[in-house]
Amino acid sequence: MSGPDLRRAAAARALDLVEPGMRLGLGTGSTAAAFVTLLGARVRDGLDIVGVPTSEATRAQAEALGIRLATLDELPELDLTIDGADEVDDQLRLIKGGGAALLREKIVAYASRRMVVIADAAKHVSRLGAFPLPVEVNAFGLTATHRAVESAVADAGCTGPVRLRLQPGGLPLVTDGGHHILDAHLGAIADPDALGAALWAVPGVVEHGLFLGIADAAILAADRDGQAEIIVLGSLT
Ligand code: A5P
Repeated sequence: MSGPDLRRAAAARALDLVEPGMRLGLGTGSTAAAFVTLLGARVRDGLDIVGVPTSEATRAQAEALGIRLATLDELPELDLTIDGADEVDDQLRLIKGGGAALLREKIVAYASRRMVVIADAAKHVSRLGAFPLPVEVNAFGLTATHRAVESAVADAGCTGPVRLRLQPGGLPLVTDGGHHILDAHLGAIADPDALGAALWAVPGVVEHGLFLGIADAAILAADRDGQAEIIVLGSLT
């Protein structure tokens, strides 16, 4: 099965969790987009839900599909957030932010009673860190913050370069919140809690892409002889 098929299979299983009247956090990225597409079809058929998007891209997609939207200020408590991830381990710790939406994703997930991750099973890892860890930073003092993040990474026992994420034209990428992203290429993160705390201690860090103790479950789709096999980490209820 192709990657898009697996993402769609995980998204379809997550759609079973949606009930009429729910306030839903809508994630960002290609897997979350597959979920929003399926949700849009259900809304067209009469399902009544309201969504809070985690990025301008998801907002545009959901609006185009006719999904009723609200801001998190209008709906500060959500029932369920469905979002993708760049890596997920057995303890449901995540790396997110490959799509640069980690700040809003984390705020929305934290405001939700439950967060369920949907992903291709290839995202399931025994140890976090092969995927570069995104760190969202304020534009002010970028060079100083970059150096401080490098020190924080080393203090937490990790090694590897920290690189400013660029747009295709070569300029620094700017997030929906007007910030920049530093990607920490660490290979492996021995102690995610220690790294998260070290990054938090840097004043210019707005948020980091380690989601620790936030996800309740993960729906992973694997290719089993040409069929999608759904693997669930955690509990879906
Ligand atoms: C967006 O910032 C990310 O956190 C995405 O959720 C993550 O990168 C997964 O994206 P895909 O579903 O496209 O792999």
